[in-house]
Amino acid sequence: SQQDALSILGEFGIVPVVEIPEARLAVPLARALSEAGLTTIEVTMRTPDALESIANIAAELPEFHVGVGTLFTAANVADAKAAGARFGVSPGYTPQLGLAAREAGLPLIPGAATASEIMAAVEDGFDIVKFFPAELNGGAKALAALLAPLAASGLRHVMPTGGVTPDNLGDYLRIPRVIAAGGTWIAPRGLIAVGEFDIIRDNAARALELART
Ligand code: 3PG
Repeated sequence: SQQDALSILGEFGIVPVVEIPEARLAVPLARALSEAGLTTIEVTMRTPDALESIANIAAELPEFHVGVGTLFTAANVADAKAAGARFGVSPGYTPQLGLAAREAGLPLIPGAATASEIMAAVEDGFDIVKFFPAELNGGAKALAALLAPLAASGLRHVMPTGGVTPDNLGDYLRIPRVIAAGGTWIAPRGLIAVGEFDIIRDNAARALELART
């Protein structure tokens, strides 16, 4: 179910959001995260090699929880599902995107930054949203204030993303409905591009350590 597929994100408390410039880098990247104990990733559709990257990870590391990010359209959903994505993330929400995700059986974390956007996603059956861009929308304090009146709304989980760093990660994770925080700080595109997988593994290990405390 949507819930089972997303509850795994809560095991780690963090989701590395990545732009993979070349598909051949995908498996070494996922292995580096795995070595740190982090077996989830959100591969954004922001590079031409995104779908092939998802497919490579799904084929080589079947236990890895690979998701797709930056979904806009129903076609994106179908392509990502076919490539092997196990969850999807979008910067915003539209009813058409929600319908496509439900029909494809792809658990979706729709983006939302206001009460109205959250209410629209919940109305369509989504009980988790990505609060995006988190820092520029006021950060953890703003998120806590936004969630307070939505206690009985049906929204169960939130994944803040956008401007999350080791310095503010704890502030987000202390908010009760925050299941995990996403971000590019663990595996920035520049490090992936030059194959600095040792640094990425260390970033992941540090982030996991922070998320656990
Ligand atoms: C995303 O794709 O969700 C964001 O671009 C990640 O934001 P960050 O680079 O600030 O972590």
